Amino acid sequence: MNCTCWSPCPCSTIRLILQAFTGARLSTQVFHACIVSVCPSTLLSEQIASACEVRAAGAGSGGPRSLRVPDKEYAQMTSLDAFEAIRTVLAVRQFRNDPIPDEVVRQVVESAHLTASASNAQPWHFLVVQNAETLKQLGQLATTGPYIAQAPLAIVVVIDRTPLSVSDGSRAIQSMILTAWSHGVASNWVGFVGHIDAVKPILGIPDEKDVLGIVPLGYAVRQVGAGKKKRKPLGEVVSRERFGQPYH
Ligand SMILES: Cc1cc2nc3c(=O)[nH]c(=O)nc-3n(C[C@H](O)[C@H](O)[C@H](O)COP(=O)(O)O)c2cc1C
Repeated sequence: MNCTCWSPCPCSTIRLILQAFTGARLSTQVFHACIVSVCPSTLLSEQIASACEVRAAGAGSGGPRSLRVPDKEYAQMTSLDAFEAIRTVLAVRQFRNDPIPDEVVRQVVESAHLTASASNAQPWHFLVVQNAETLKQLGQLATTGPYIAQAPLAIVVVIDRTPLSVSDGSRAIQSMILTAWSHGVASNWVGFVGHIDAVKPILGIPDEKDVLGIVPLGYAVRQVGAGKKKRKPLGEVVSRERFGQPYH
C-alpha cells in the first residue's frame, strides 16, 4: 500500500486509522473507500478522486479510466450527514495555522445567509475577518475567547435589536458551525449580546446593532473526540406526552 492520495487531508482522524490499516493487504480502491468513509473532510474525497483519475488517465491503458465509485455510493461515503455532524462537533479553542479554503469559507457564509428567520426578517450581518492583526485585536477584546487571535478566520455575527434576532442569529451560527464541520473545519461560539461590544468600534459596527457572537474557525490542533459530549442524561431532558413522563 504505497498510495499517498490521503496525505493532503487536513483531518487528523486519517492519521489514526492509517495505523490500523498499515500492513493490511487491501487494494488501493478499498483502502480509499475505508479512509474516505471515516474522514469528516470532503476535501479528502475530492483529492482522492482527482488523484486517482489523473493517475488512471496517465496509465496508458486505453484512455482515462475513473476509479470513482458510482455517484450515489460516493456521496454516501463522503458526506457527513446532519446527525453525524451534530453528534461529533465540539467547541474547539485551539486552531492550526493552516488557512481554510476559500470555497469552504464561502459555503459557511452561504449557510448563514440561507438560514431561516422569523417572518424571514433576516435581522443579521456576517462579518468575515481574516486579517491577522484584526483577529489579534478581537482576541484581546473578547475576554471569553482569547484564542480568536490564533484562528485563521473569524465570523462576527451582528444582529438588529429586534425581539427575535437572538433566536434568528443563533440559528445562523449553528448553520455555520455545522457546515464548517462537514468540511472538517472546527469552530466555537464566543460571547453573547452585551459581552463583546468592545469589538464594535474596530470593525465599524453601527451603535444601534448588537454583536451576538464571534465564531472563530480553523482546523483543530488536536483530534476532536468523535461524539464524546458531556451532556445531561437524555431521560432528564426529554419527556413523552407530558412533562416529566419518561421518554423511553
Ligand atoms: C450561546 C453560547 C455562547 C458561548 N460562549 C462561549 C464563549 O464565550 N467562550 C467559549 O470559549 N465558549 C463559548 N461557548 C461554547 C460552550 O462553552 C460549549 O459549546 C459547551 O461548553 C459545550 O461544549 P461542546 O460544544 O464541546 O460539547 C458558547 C456556546 C454557546 C452555545
